[in-house]
Amino acid sequence: MKKKGSSKGVRIAIVGSGYVGLVSGICFAEIGHSVICVDNNKEKIKKLKKGLMPIYEPGLDKLLKKNMKNGRLKFSDSVKKAVPVSDAIFIAVNTPPRPDGSCDLQYVEAVSREVALSMNGYKVIVEKSTVPASTGQKIKQTVKIYNKKNLPFDVVSNPEFLREGKAIGDFLKPDRIVIGVESKKAEELMHRIYAPVKAPLIVTNTETSELIKHASNSFLATKISFINAVANIAERVGADIKDISLAMGLDKRIGGRFLDAGIGFGGSCFPKDVLAFIHMAHEEGIDFKLLKEVYGINESQRMTVIDKLKDIVWNIEGKKIAVWGLAFKPDTDDLRNAPAIDIVRELLKFNAQVCVYDPVAMDGFKKILGKEKNLKYAQAMTAVKGADALMLLTEWEEFSKADMKKVKSLMRVPALIDGRNLYDPAKMKKLGFLYRGVGRV
Ligand SMILES: NC(=O)c1ccc[n+]([C@@H]2O[C@H](COP(=O)([O-])OP(=O)(O)OC[C@H]3O[C@@H](n4cnc5c(N)ncnc54)[C@H](O)[C@@H]3O)[C@@H](O)[C@H]2O)c1
Repeated sequence: MKKKGSSKGVRIAIVGSGYVGLVSGICFAEIGHSVICVDNNKEKIKKLKKGLMPIYEPGLDKLLKKNMKNGRLKFSDSVKKAVPVSDAIFIAVNTPPRPDGSCDLQYVEAVSREVALSMNGYKVIVEKSTVPASTGQKIKQTVKIYNKKNLPFDVVSNPEFLREGKAIGDFLKPDRIVIGVESKKAEELMHRIYAPVKAPLIVTNTETSELIKHASNSFLATKISFINAVANIAERVGADIKDISLAMGLDKRIGGRFLDAGIGFGGSCFPKDVLAFIHMAHEEGIDFKLLKEVYGINESQRMTVIDKLKDIVWNIEGKKIAVWGLAFKPDTDDLRNAPAIDIVRELLKFNAQVCVYDPVAMDGFKKILGKEKNLKYAQAMTAVKGADALMLLTEWEEFSKADMKKVKSLMRVPALIDGRNLYDPAKMKKLGFLYRGVGRV
């Protein structure tokens, strides 16, 4: 663990202004750096220039306005313009999965090329996107090829560990900062960038840094699949997974986080990162069977709520099913790989009449599912009116505070499928619900 350097402001360009790029850019401005956030989505940049947020992330809009006002935060749709006036260029573009599970690095390559073509002196190119080990070497090779004047540069790996919904806190007060570097000069600049952030700093080589990210996400995914596998056993023998998780988690060697049973992990990171890690290992001649199982358990876990629904309502055809929660987790509008997408599609396949509600993700859901005659959107209480079942798929705080007595009175059949173990089974049963949680009876 190293000590960080002086905190003099650094000129930073962030290429890719999505969840990670925007949070990083806005937070870097907040800690005193001069930041240009770049994106090739012109509409997004137009919106941002007007001070409008293209994503939902608690607290980010305030910091955006504050740092635009103090002049430390700017936006551009041009890498060509941003690179010459920046010392560090962060690549924060998407790295989606290809159909074979490998990580699609075409956007990382495109940005590396553009940066190389726009250089006017020494630059530190920072890989912020989640990428397989050795990507840094590929970026280096690409920049060398396109940087015709042979200008000096360094490539650094600096993976991001923020969680959507809690991104600002995670960025400004992280558990650790990981930096993979090959030169002292680049290391010093990274020290200056992160000097105002109080967190343990791990400085290592690029490949180690890249691997830390995939290993960390895969380990967290493993914890989730493990507890879900245990939950399925608990359910059959009459045990309670909440108590199991609590007792296991109090063991400091295990830790209580990421031990919540439910409908599994989703989002833009865990599923793709687990797949990419399996693929990367395979390319190195290693069959990462453990992670294959982690992924498989997660895939089947989301459909267990359909079996629970059938168990109560018998045939799903023609039944009115209310769904609360669409985003892959609370406090975000992110629907990438959200279990709700697969679950609602399955309900529609059975010709159910589905009425969904989410506090912020309904517009996004409409774009994904398109027009479906059996799919309606409504506010929470309207969705449950006359329903044969309510399925809780995202544990938004709003749902934990809902008047469940009223919910029960509005439903035709009070079947409650709690995919996130949000409610107390005893209380729900007392209210008259036919309750099914995950890993508890
Ligand atoms: N979302 C998270 O919670 C999270 C957390 C940690 C790490 N990551 C990783 O960070 C990376 C970015 O993830 P994200 O969720 O922010 O993605 P995102 O899809 O929200 O944002 C990516 C942005 O990059 C832009 N882009 C793509 N190609 C570009 C180009 N050539 N020039 C300029 N802009 C370009 C896109 O328009 C988009 O706005 C991924 O590798 C992801 O795995 C994400």
